Amino acid sequence: MGIEFFEKERIFKLDTPKSSYIIGVVDEENFVGHVYYGKKCRDYKLGYLMRTDEAPFVPSKNERDRLSFLDAFPFEYSTHGLGDFRESCIQVKTSKGQSAVSLSYVEHKIYAGKPALSGLPATFGTEQECSTLELVCRDNVLDLKVILYYSVFEDTDVVTRSVKVVNEGKETIYLTKVLSACLDMDNQDFELLTMHGSWARERKVQYRKIGYGQQGVTSLRGESSHQDHPFMALKAGDATQEMGDVYGMHFVYSGNFLAQAELNQFDSVRAVMGINPKDFCWKLEPQDEFQAPEVVLVYSAQGLDGMTTSLHTLYRKHLIRSEYKDKKRPILINNWEATYFDFNTEKLLQIAKQASELGIEMLVMDDGWFGKRNDDNTSLGDWDVNEEKINGGLKYLVDEVNKLGMKFGIWFEPEMISPDSELYKAHPDWAIAVPDRTPGRARNQFVLDLSRKDVREHTYESIAKILRSANIEYVKWDMNRPLSDIGSAELPADRQGELFHRYVLGVYELQERMMTEFPHLLLENCSGGGARFDPGMLYYSPQIWCSDDTDAIERLSIQEGTAMIYPLSTMGAHVSDCPNHTVGRITPFETRGYVALAGTFGYELDVTKIPEEDRNSIPEQIQMYHKYNDLVREGNYYRIASYAQNHEYDCYMVVSQEQTEALVTFVQVLNRPNCKSRKIKLKGLKSEANYVLEETGALYAGDTLMNAGILIENPWGDFKGKLLHLTMQK
Ligand code: DGJ
Repeated sequence: MGIEFFEKERIFKLDTPKSSYIIGVVDEENFVGHVYYGKKCRDYKLGYLMRTDEAPFVPSKNERDRLSFLDAFPFEYSTHGLGDFRESCIQVKTSKGQSAVSLSYVEHKIYAGKPALSGLPATFGTEQECSTLELVCRDNVLDLKVILYYSVFEDTDVVTRSVKVVNEGKETIYLTKVLSACLDMDNQDFELLTMHGSWARERKVQYRKIGYGQQGVTSLRGESSHQDHPFMALKAGDATQEMGDVYGMHFVYSGNFLAQAELNQFDSVRAVMGINPKDFCWKLEPQDEFQAPEVVLVYSAQGLDGMTTSLHTLYRKHLIRSEYKDKKRPILINNWEATYFDFNTEKLLQIAKQASELGIEMLVMDDGWFGKRNDDNTSLGDWDVNEEKINGGLKYLVDEVNKLGMKFGIWFEPEMISPDSELYKAHPDWAIAVPDRTPGRARNQFVLDLSRKDVREHTYESIAKILRSANIEYVKWDMNRPLSDIGSAELPADRQGELFHRYVLGVYELQERMMTEFPHLLLENCSGGGARFDPGMLYYSPQIWCSDDTDAIERLSIQEGTAMIYPLSTMGAHVSDCPNHTVGRITPFETRGYVALAGTFGYELDVTKIPEEDRNSIPEQIQMYHKYNDLVREGNYYRIASYAQNHEYDCYMVVSQEQTEALVTFVQVLNRPNCKSRKIKLKGLKSEANYVLEETGALYAGDTLMNAGILIENPWGDFKGKLLHLTMQK
């Protein structure tokens, strides 16, 4: 495992436990080519795969067909304007108005460990856990240095990539495009897997066969978005959930992105990922550098399941930093769906008192506690406690909640400013806006210009002063509108194209600062539900609110997409009241509990008002959480059946790392008459071990459970669920 350089052949070989990634340097001009990515190979002499011995050969042997070479060669990092007509990764604008870039290998470094990316979230590991290759390339005409970073980990099958650009010349250069990763491969009848959605419908999985030309997903909303997700996978035509080649690319970033696959004339595919070049232009003065965010590449020979396992391992061990990452999270009750804006100290304490008696461990006060905010039209930016509602003050409320033996959490939307706020009256120029245009409102609010230091300073202090004022142990950091009307009152004209990225850096800086001052805080990111559920945010918060749709049935497919690429420990999931506030559906309280169990688990209801029968079942539900959460948080997750695909039932399971315990969740959606029981084949168990099914006491062989399966009787009624708990016989 690790990274090696074979000098004679000019080959770099990067090995993970089960995959190899091979790079070659070719010809006199030192082009950096992609040789191979896939199942582990012992040999490194695979340079022939770059096909430089076939026509059109390399420029030193055939300069007359240089363009044909450039347009067919598998580049590690594609360049612009000189004959490679596929998607480029980098493009510039010089003082002479030129845009072309050409890159050649210059030198490299291989070392143990992995450098942090300045100002950006990134995966990390110790010198024992990972190693890094820095490939230094240069454009000698532009005097531009481009460093390609690759890291591999000892315990998971991923290769991470990022790019740093340094202006070594004497003239200012504008970077108009700088993607983070490129992967050129022969087509394997690939299907493109992406995730799409909308508010309350996030991360629904979509498959499409790739065709000639370009296809992919993007965001230009300033956040990763409800609509598209900064992830894509290329799944070989014969790959399945359990078997076959799958290549995933996931962007560790929370702003505009481009994820694109391009099938070309030679049936090779170029997959690229990075900051969306639209509305991006970064000024690089002499000696300035630009650090592009990280992309996680994952290869699996075990279909989608293998990809999921690798990403879960990476994020759990090498991305999430919170002190809560390996801990059970306090079971919270959030007052949003319980009261919306209509609450005061008494109401919150009534909820808390009842909740604490039932075993709930934390009260979260959501939107509406500050300024004069009694609806969503006002006061964002005025982070002063509204003592008419929070009578007695915030500290009194928190102390009273603490006296009940509960923790206290609070909601903020730090990035926003209401036109109707004291802050806006004082600083109208702090909102992002195009000069001479009235900025568009969304939820009646504007976005703060976090590219400005004074705005960040003020924003941080307004939140921190609240956090310092009482024993607040959890923050829900919300963000309820995308960015539009891109313009900053402070940035000079030739830096306006930096605003989108500077905004994201501003968000990261604020969250980093908050977690540094309040290291014990449990932070949950949120964006009108799950519009900013991305690996970038996981670097700051161990959990993210998955969706505003808390309906147990809608959540099946939302959580299916989310869990395919994120650990269950990161998925904010709550039990809410019925009829569900988003879709009006009535589902059994029990099923709502089973579905929320797959995430962080909590409640989003007025516990003093729900039906008595539901309330009475909360202690049992909480026992269930305590019994299974270690397994859910730490175990390996497997998808068994998808309601989104079969339209009848959903089934997934988690297996402990030692394979001694497993929990299967089965949810039937609509019942049908006169049906046979369903056969479910389990996964991830030890073939040679025997397992006891707790519900019946029956003993099954591991290989029987996985190869032959078990039968699950259709539950009576709609929207019913079942848990099956298996423990290894000692
Ligand atoms: C959107 C969030 O997703 C909700 O949970 C809630 O916090 C509201 N915002 C409050 O405005």
